[in-house]
Amino acid sequence: MANSRFEYVKQFERENFLLPETHIVIRVDGKGFHKFSAHYGFDKPNDIRALNVMNRAAQAIVAQFPDIQMAYGDSDEYSFLLRRTCELFERREMKLVSTFASFMSVYYVMEWNREFPEKPLVIERLPTFDARAVVYPNAQTVRDYFSWRQVDCHINNLYNTTFWKLIEKCGMTGQEAENYLSGTVSSDKNEILFSKCGINYNNEPEIFKKGTVIVREYKEENHVESPSERQKQRIAKARKKAQISVLHVDIIKGDFWSQRPWLLE
Ligand code: GTP
Ligand code: MG
Repeated sequence: MANSRFEYVKQFERENFLLPETHIVIRVDGKGFHKFSAHYGFDKPNDIRALNVMNRAAQAIVAQFPDIQMAYGDSDEYSFLLRRTCELFERREMKLVSTFASFMSVYYVMEWNREFPEKPLVIERLPTFDARAVVYPNAQTVRDYFSWRQVDCHINNLYNTTFWKLIEKCGMTGQEAENYLSGTVSSDKNEILFSKCGINYNNEPEIFKKGTVIVREYKEENHVESPSERQKQRIAKARKKAQISVLHVDIIKGDFWSQRPWLLE
């Protein structure tokens, strides 16, 4: 860039380089999806096609950035876990969050048009996403973060499923269903679903109960302590080519993590 007397304004810019050697999680969240879902007539409480749109958009992001180890999402949100030693955008926070929000928005639109050709997006109601980045210092806090999101998915889904079944199957109004559920705990809701609606919550689809996990699966031999330059190149190549799985499984218990030690290396 040419020098000019105006260039001094650059000094006002500030950059936050996310702490090295920490696990970065970037969470994107749909803006105003309560209204967005009402406008496009999403099924309640879960619209499987809308979830497909979210999941495919997130998969496209995972494929785009080999530094993403895994992602977890439900409803209108997705969390992406980056490698601890990731140097993407020199770990600059603003670059990371603005890029992720922007990719999520454009991939969502592309996947929406594929999934819902009969519901063209209108300019007044476009899907946009915000994003934030948080760094976690160790394996335990990363696991607790993802447990927190999956518990949230479970609590919301159990409530919403019971709420809508009381309306559909028992003819309650929204207000009546809300009053009926007020003060109930999980076991009460399971019981209400079973006795009043004839539904066993365990038999509900896993994608609704557990959300979606997208994970980069690579073989463990790619994980070498203090790799040489040659090994680093080989590992980077393997990472790019790694298979990406889409699962609807428990990530709160240990199995998911112990089967994939590279996630929290
Ligand atoms: P901000 O994120 O603060 O902009 O608000 P928001 O309206 O997006 O709400 P929030 O992110 O807290 O929650 C997402 C909302 O999206 C839910 O409360 C639902 O109203 C809606 N939503 C997400 N997925 C579905 C779905 O599958 N079906 C229906 N009917 N609604 C959904
Ligand atoms: Mg939202």
